[in-house]
Amino acid sequence: MALIRSFLCSFMILTILPIYHLVSVNGQGTQPGFYNLTCPLVETIVLTSTTARFLLQPNIAPGLLKLHYSDCFVEGCDGSVLISGPGTERTADVNRNLRGFDVINDIKTQLEFLCPGVVSCADILALAVR
Ligand SMILES: *[C@@H]1O[C@H](CO)[C@@H](O)[C@H](O)[C@H]1NC(C)=O
Repeated sequence: MALIRSFLCSFMILTILPIYHLVSVNGQGTQPGFYNLTCPLVETIVLTSTTARFLLQPNIAPGLLKLHYSDCFVEGCDGSVLISGPGTERTADVNRNLRGFDVINDIKTQLEFLCPGVVSCADILALAVR
């Protein structure tokens, strides 16, 4: 069991990290501190909210990682997997077990109150996973 788990973990690291790197070099220069001027509290809010949820539900961490991976898989990390409604990525059969949408929604609600229209859901997801 431990061997299988270890293999799966290595497999995820070996497959996800190179993809993540490819995607990040195609981004728009998003990096830690990107919102320093436009929404200075974003990283603190994402960290606080994600940590609070993690303490209640530790398996939210792999859930968010998978959500981010699934988001990036189709045409880059654009938050498309977060959009709900008929015929969307979120309702696709392969994505039916994704979780963590409520974590991102909760953070988005806080950020829309503090700095409306500044931080994208795709960036919130990436920050939460980080
Ligand atoms: C954002 O602010 C932090 C803390 O002041 C600083 O260390 C970092 O270099 C800044 N990043 C950017 C991209 O401006």
